[in-house]
Amino acid sequence: MSEQEEAPPPPEAAQRARELHEVIEHHSYRYYVLDDPEIGDDAYDELMDELRELERRHPSLRTPDSPTQRVGAEPVSKLEKVRHLEPMLSLANVRSEEELRAWVSRMRAHLAREGIQAPDFRYVVEPKVDGLAISLLYRDGKLERGATRGNGEVGEDVTHNLRTIGAIPLHVEGAPPLLEVRGEIYMSTHDFTALNERQAEAGLSTFMNPRNSAAGSIRQLDPALAAQRPLSIWCYQVGVTEGLSFERHSQALQWLRDHGFRVNRDIKLLEDEQQAIAQCEEWQWRRGELDFEIDGAVVKIDDLELQRRLGAIGREPRWAVAWKFPPTTAVTHLRAVHWNVGKFGDLHPYAELAPVQVGGVVIKLATLHNEEDLARKDIRPGEDVIVLRAGDVIPQVVSPAPHVVERHDRPPRPLPPSRCPFCETPTIKPAAGVFTKCPNVACPERRWQLLKHFVSRGAMDIDGLGEKQVALLQQQGLIQTPADYYRLTAEQLVELEGFGEVSAANLLTSIEASKDRPFGRVLFGLGIEEVGEVTGRNLAQRFREIDALLAADEQQIAQTPGIGEKMAASIVAQLADPKMRELIAELRAIGLRFAEEGPPPGEGPLAGKSLVLTGTLPHWSREHASELILAAGGRVVSAVSKKTDYVVAGERPGSKLEKAQRLEVPVIDEAGLKALLGQ
Ligand code: IVH
Repeated sequence: MSEQEEAPPPPEAAQRARELHEVIEHHSYRYYVLDDPEIGDDAYDELMDELRELERRHPSLRTPDSPTQRVGAEPVSKLEKVRHLEPMLSLANVRSEEELRAWVSRMRAHLAREGIQAPDFRYVVEPKVDGLAISLLYRDGKLERGATRGNGEVGEDVTHNLRTIGAIPLHVEGAPPLLEVRGEIYMSTHDFTALNERQAEAGLSTFMNPRNSAAGSIRQLDPALAAQRPLSIWCYQVGVTEGLSFERHSQALQWLRDHGFRVNRDIKLLEDEQQAIAQCEEWQWRRGELDFEIDGAVVKIDDLELQRRLGAIGREPRWAVAWKFPPTTAVTHLRAVHWNVGKFGDLHPYAELAPVQVGGVVIKLATLHNEEDLARKDIRPGEDVIVLRAGDVIPQVVSPAPHVVERHDRPPRPLPPSRCPFCETPTIKPAAGVFTKCPNVACPERRWQLLKHFVSRGAMDIDGLGEKQVALLQQQGLIQTPADYYRLTAEQLVELEGFGEVSAANLLTSIEASKDRPFGRVLFGLGIEEVGEVTGRNLAQRFREIDALLAADEQQIAQTPGIGEKMAASIVAQLADPKMRELIAELRAIGLRFAEEGPPPGEGPLAGKSLVLTGTLPHWSREHASELILAAGGRVVSAVSKKTDYVVAGERPGSKLEKAQRLEVPVIDEAGLKALLGQ
């Protein structure tokens, strides 16, 4: 009998399955969350066997939230993108007591401007776990979706893999209708070492560090892989909720603990900044003893109303900071200095080192920034040097080791090569710049860098085109300019190493999808010197479409925010280049966006209107609502005045609402805003 035709299971079977879910989840909790099991592995396996057998006889009992589905669910064909209900923010860093105190002063000053004097600053200090940030969404107490942080707004759906993690509850007893929990997936250092030993024994490649192995496991398509990896979670935040609210972050953490989530027991609530600093130092001191990697401590304001009042600047909340530990350094031998060529021909030095462990990672290469820096630091190949690895950033050579600088017989200083290491064209040193350049625009290395840049995250963001693939396509003569990506065919791709029919089709789909990227990102992708992501967006907004930009002179371009006269002259010159014109014409014919969507400033349903946002909106974050208002031609301002057209009020709106009522400014809610936006 197929699953669809199956008769409903007898009520006793359904009842027993429910009991088994509960009992098994209880024991998972004891084992994975509390690290304090009540029964042995055999007894646990027996319970699982009984449930599996029951589900085999009555397949309709095999629901996605069954503990049996933690392992053995079907692979997914790709990771779907999901938009977070509220953006997942990142953190500003502090590196000393003074910087932490300065952060506190900035918060006080900000609140004073909002009319809040002598705020009650209590702090929660947490370990900054070095893993992968994720969001777990529970509806009516059932795990519905788990997603990676991604770019903060949009992440990837990795529910299938997160379900395999024993420490993540599938059910939450007593949960509100909607609950989002955020935390960090990680692998313990002990499990990481054991995993690497197993990998090496099986002749498989080993992982760089626990964070990479955790992230790599979570971003797999087949959950069977994640199920084999010893992953766990530390939860650190309650995100969006409906039907549940807290006054303090510490209460939210306690609620999580009480409801089966894994929250570190050493997180402390502290009365003042002196205590908070001492606690950060304590984490720093304990770092080596922990069974998981941390790269700092996180200090958060406990009072959630104050958090809300403090808000965020860009992607970083004002109410929290990361206390970063001092970076790790080591001494090693500098074997040689080599030179890379960047997308504009600049030669960049990098170091080949005798392999050395720095902060648990073996380093063989390190950056040397640029030739000026290299000369200033007086770094010479053939000598010992100090290398530094700070968190995620590329390791760098800091200086010669102290014992070598005293010597009289030092080896010669490294100089930039007189010919490009890739195309052998004689290099030039433009008087103005600090970099020696390869002047050959057809240099294969320059081309590769440009081609990579075009498909990178901030530009066309084409999935499936990493460094290797771009190099392969270029070596095979399939791409010379960015326009060539759009001419690739499945027949060409399947011929290439590493491509099958499915991956070729997927890549073509991603390439096609990239035609939808907004104008500003296309401008960034073109590879114009000085045009970064932000300038690309600003140029797009100001000129609206490519013909206007191409026709603009230096003065007009210099009126764009962030662009000075010198930059404007350089941009005009690059846009006038016949090769650039040709590329633009080709990409335009292919169908990329060369005009800004949405109304220009001063047009659209909210043209000329100024709005104030206050309180928490049910579905939209403040940033998202602001973006929508801007896109509709309106302005978002922070203070209510007689000139304000609307105040958009959410939950816990604060004093702005009172002021609006006093000044008789119309007050609307999220639905009202939606209506104004014409949605
Ligand atoms: S709070 C404001 N708490 O650090 C909210 N983050 O740099 C930001 N992280 O993406 C997150 N441990 O991956 C927070 N106890 C902790 C954390 C933590 C690790 C990571 C997280 C986040 C990044 C921010």
